[in-house]
Amino acid sequence: MKYDIPVTKTKHSRLSEVDFDNIPFGRVFSDHMFMADYIDGEWTNLKIIPFDRFAIHPASMVLHYGQAIFEGMKASKSFEGQALFLRPEKHAQRLNVSARRMCMPEIPEELFLEALHQLIAIDQAWIPPQEGSALYIRPYVFGNDEFIGVKPAEKYKFIIFTGPVGPYYPKPVSLIAEDKYVRAVKGGTGEAKAAGNYAGSLLPARIANQKGYDQVMWMDGKEFKYIQEVGTMNIFFVIDGKVITPATDGAILKGITRDSILTILRDKGYQVEERPISIDEVVAAHDAGKLEEVFGTGTAAVVAHVSKIAYKDRVMELPPMEDRKVGAMAKAEIDGLRSGTIKDTHNWIVPVGEYAQVDA
Ligand SMILES: Cc1ncc(COP(=O)(O)O)c(C=O)c1O
Repeated sequence: MKYDIPVTKTKHSRLSEVDFDNIPFGRVFSDHMFMADYIDGEWTNLKIIPFDRFAIHPASMVLHYGQAIFEGMKASKSFEGQALFLRPEKHAQRLNVSARRMCMPEIPEELFLEALHQLIAIDQAWIPPQEGSALYIRPYVFGNDEFIGVKPAEKYKFIIFTGPVGPYYPKPVSLIAEDKYVRAVKGGTGEAKAAGNYAGSLLPARIANQKGYDQVMWMDGKEFKYIQEVGTMNIFFVIDGKVITPATDGAILKGITRDSILTILRDKGYQVEERPISIDEVVAAHDAGKLEEVFGTGTAAVVAHVSKIAYKDRVMELPPMEDRKVGAMAKAEIDGLRSGTIKDTHNWIVPVGEYAQVDA
């Protein structure tokens, strides 16, 4: 271990108060959290402490200028009860992509991974053993100078906390192709997992809900023609046997589930294309009876099937669920890797606590 992370354990575990068969999403938090401060150009004050509130100054820069980035990932238990992560280093790397774009200090990958392994090892008992359940993990970083004025902060906090979540059985989602608001443009912040991106998505999402749709399908900000992604998921189309997903172009979040599913599909011999896909192409495929599946991918749901897509004055209904073979297969593969029923040929699975230090 390269980093010394002192641990203060809670004297009052809340674990016995939690009903793992009935966990409200996003409201239950585990016993401990990791915290670090960035001061004078280095990460310091590393510690694992009981999960609790902490104070920040009213002038803390994040509250005014929004330097805040985060990750969302999971630890789960295999059938044999082993606690494991799926591709944790990818989340460390993406957090640093976000940090660079938002002019924030990077977190050394070893620091991220050591903190993660130690924290989750301590709160292992909080990983629900039920199939499909997991421990949701939220690493985040924010600018914390006590200062008014637009500039990059000099002090930051890096925190990781966790909370158990139940199985996510998403019902198929209905989408509306957005033709007024944009989530991101090339050169903007769409490729960063920056808090402000989510704030900007709330109004269009509320309007979509008021029209009776679950989520917004984001389009490019220039022509409102090319499809980007959906809510908090990347999007895949199966057209005439081919699987197509928008190429990441600087405006789309590079989903880790997207990357895993692309790899799985290619391994299985599917014809896969990462390229710009226009709404006109989707409409034409639908009209020709060739739009076989549409699904979103992300850490929370893994795969969420799309039931229908509204675009201007028309609504495209998608084929019945039993015909959605590609999305169902992709989800089963990722679930199988996590549960240990499918062989991990890519070394994506990392047991909690087994952090091999790579000396720089
Ligand atoms: C905007 C957005 N797109 C896509 C995704 C899917 O990314 P991942 O598969 O890494 O969870 C997420 C979730 O993190 C997201 O917030």
